[in-house]
Amino acid sequence: MADFTARPSRGVGGSAAVPGDKSISHRSLMISGIAAGRSEIAGFLASEDCLATLAAMRALGVRIERPTDTDVVVHGVGMHGLHGAARALDMGNAGTAMRLFTGLLAAQPFASRLVGDASLMKRPMERVAAPLRAMGADVRTHGGLPPVQIAGLGGGGAPGRLKAIDYEMPVPSAQVKSAILLAGLYADGVTRVSSPAVCRDHSERMLLSCGVRLDSAGLTTALHPPARLEARNLTVPGDFSSAAFFIVAGLLGAGQDGLLLRNVGLNPTRTGLLEILRRMGGRIEIENARESGAEPVADLRVVGSRLSGIEVPPALVPLAIDEFPVLFVAAACAEGSTVITGAEELRVKESDRIATMSEGLRALGVEHEVTPDGMRIVGRPRGAAFGGGALDSHGDHRVAMSFAVASLRASEPILIRDVANVATSFPGFVALARAVGLDPTASGG
Ligand code: S3P
Repeated sequence: MADFTARPSRGVGGSAAVPGDKSISHRSLMISGIAAGRSEIAGFLASEDCLATLAAMRALGVRIERPTDTDVVVHGVGMHGLHGAARALDMGNAGTAMRLFTGLLAAQPFASRLVGDASLMKRPMERVAAPLRAMGADVRTHGGLPPVQIAGLGGGGAPGRLKAIDYEMPVPSAQVKSAILLAGLYADGVTRVSSPAVCRDHSERMLLSCGVRLDSAGLTTALHPPARLEARNLTVPGDFSSAAFFIVAGLLGAGQDGLLLRNVGLNPTRTGLLEILRRMGGRIEIENARESGAEPVADLRVVGSRLSGIEVPPALVPLAIDEFPVLFVAAACAEGSTVITGAEELRVKESDRIATMSEGLRALGVEHEVTPDGMRIVGRPRGAAFGGGALDSHGDHRVAMSFAVASLRASEPILIRDVANVATSFPGFVALARAVGLDPTASGG
């Protein structure tokens, strides 16, 4: 099993461009796969998670070429052109792939079975299965967990078309919303999904750009089933969630010239971390703001800053849901306490991120208190905030990368075990981290 050894370094600087957005890369393959005709996707994230989606789309009959690692050409088969896969579709570590495919495949006339790795096989799937059943699909989980078994529509007396529903999600989940909207493409009327809070809207933006009629009012999105989806070329912006590690690294370890992060996706449903870090006193400047495809993009200049602990407003939690591991690292370096509440969703991510981060923070001597829905972290703003030591990422990519960033303010090297899954979202992390001045090395695996 692979490890990182992250040695304390002198600081970070220069510039970096993070790889393409994971959420958008998944969606680009699924949506262009059912569009009518050819789509060119640039800036695709060639990570294990997105390659699982690519392999699944191919298994469902879509021809996909990869002229380079990050350029993909999808020959869309149209909304009704997918065919059943010969065997189970393996989603690897990718919760997004499993949940979105459940929605897309629930509407097809053939049966499908979705499996994943040990972590994914423990993640909740009823949150998508239940609303899809309300639409008339036959979707089964194994006691709420994968494998997900989907019976084809129109067989064995089942209806040939899904029913449109009005669905109120109990948790603000972009994956659940997207699964229902993908199924809603095939429904017999207007499908409405309401969320208790704002959550990422990449599916809506991409479907709109393919000519689908979507009306959003407040926290409700209404999708009108289209006759077809137009194929569209797309440039995937850099992943804000990957940039997050370098944003925190810049605040902890950059000088007055800062660390420049180029081409970062700044969709407002993703940038809660910027708001949180600014409230903590972080200096992050937005330069060269522009649009790329249907998404806002900019360069970020991050200047070394003295951070102060805050109470994180619960409304910002869904807008920063993947960034909490690295926020905990920032909080450990801030003056005073940082209090996070309303973040119970962290317990059902690639690991239980409250428990996994607490275990690592404890190993490095950080004072903190765990609650059912968050954490209180007492920071050390001067000197080393972390001791050295060994900890386990429990196969969670974002936990592994967060503790590599912690090494900037550590007294001794940090050994991070079980880091192979960094390749699920951020292949090239070690090389990029080293290029800006961090000092992780990978070994084993
Ligand atoms: C994602 C939505 C979020 C996020 C995940 C990616 C997406 O999950 O944590 O990494 O691409 O829709 P939830 O929908 O479970 O909040």
